[in-house]
Amino acid sequence: MQIHTTVDDLRSALRRAGKVAFAPTMGNLHAGHISLMQQARQYGECVVASIFVNRLQFGPREDFDKYPRTFETDCQQLRDAGVDHLFAPDESVLYPTPQQYFVTPADAQDSILEGASRPGHFRGVATVVAKLFNIVQPAAVLLGKKDYQQLMVIRNMVRELNMPIEIIGCETIRAADGLALSSRNGYLSAQARTEAPRLYQQLQAIAHAIDIGQRDYASLESTATEHLRQHGWQPDYIAIRRRSDLLLPIDDHQTLVVVAAAKLENTRLLDNLEIV
Ligand code: PAF
Repeated sequence: MQIHTTVDDLRSALRRAGKVAFAPTMGNLHAGHISLMQQARQYGECVVASIFVNRLQFGPREDFDKYPRTFETDCQQLRDAGVDHLFAPDESVLYPTPQQYFVTPADAQDSILEGASRPGHFRGVATVVAKLFNIVQPAAVLLGKKDYQQLMVIRNMVRELNMPIEIIGCETIRAADGLALSSRNGYLSAQARTEAPRLYQQLQAIAHAIDIGQRDYASLESTATEHLRQHGWQPDYIAIRRRSDLLLPIDDHQTLVVVAAAKLENTRLLDNLEIV
């Protein structure tokens, strides 16, 4: 695997690389990221990953400074997964001067769910991802469904800005007890880690209730929210939404997803489940 820290170096290495499949990350890789790298091979002759902890997408009171940085072990995992090129710029490369041009997602996406809890987050994500796409020029990009709203924002950006990129949403990888893998799981104490699978269990309970005919979505959401509260969580939202745009479902003929974010101790966990 070749490691590139500058834009010029990466671009010259990719000049004759053929079709590129790209998976952007913020590092601290786990099996979820590695599964993106493994799937990438079927979408391109050349697999590129990036590691960049993007300050723009963190709020002023969020965990940018303490976000886990594990570069050496990340590189080993990427090599083992067969990645061809890693782009790992530092801030002075991606933001040599303070960024003044931004990609701002549609308000309908930016103001709901994660957007409401984390103002400016998706603008930071969309801006860095647009920069990375311009630098790497991939034919396909692989992103996890775990960050469901992020996937939607990036998909819409690519479509509306006519970027010639296929966006592939990949299934969430879970621990044996159901907890969705996330770099932030490392913040959980041993006790919180045993409690953490409850979030996914509540999503499964909602999916099951809908499957057997329940249609009072507001009551399903509030029952799950209350259940988490009673077990020491601080839920931000548990919401049954249309998969297409994460807005409220209007009738029974729409494919749905239940999305959730909740804090356990000081760690904010995110999960979702597509309702089939
Ligand atoms: O999902 C992530 O790790 C980040 O939001 C991304 C897409 C790499 C942009 O910084």
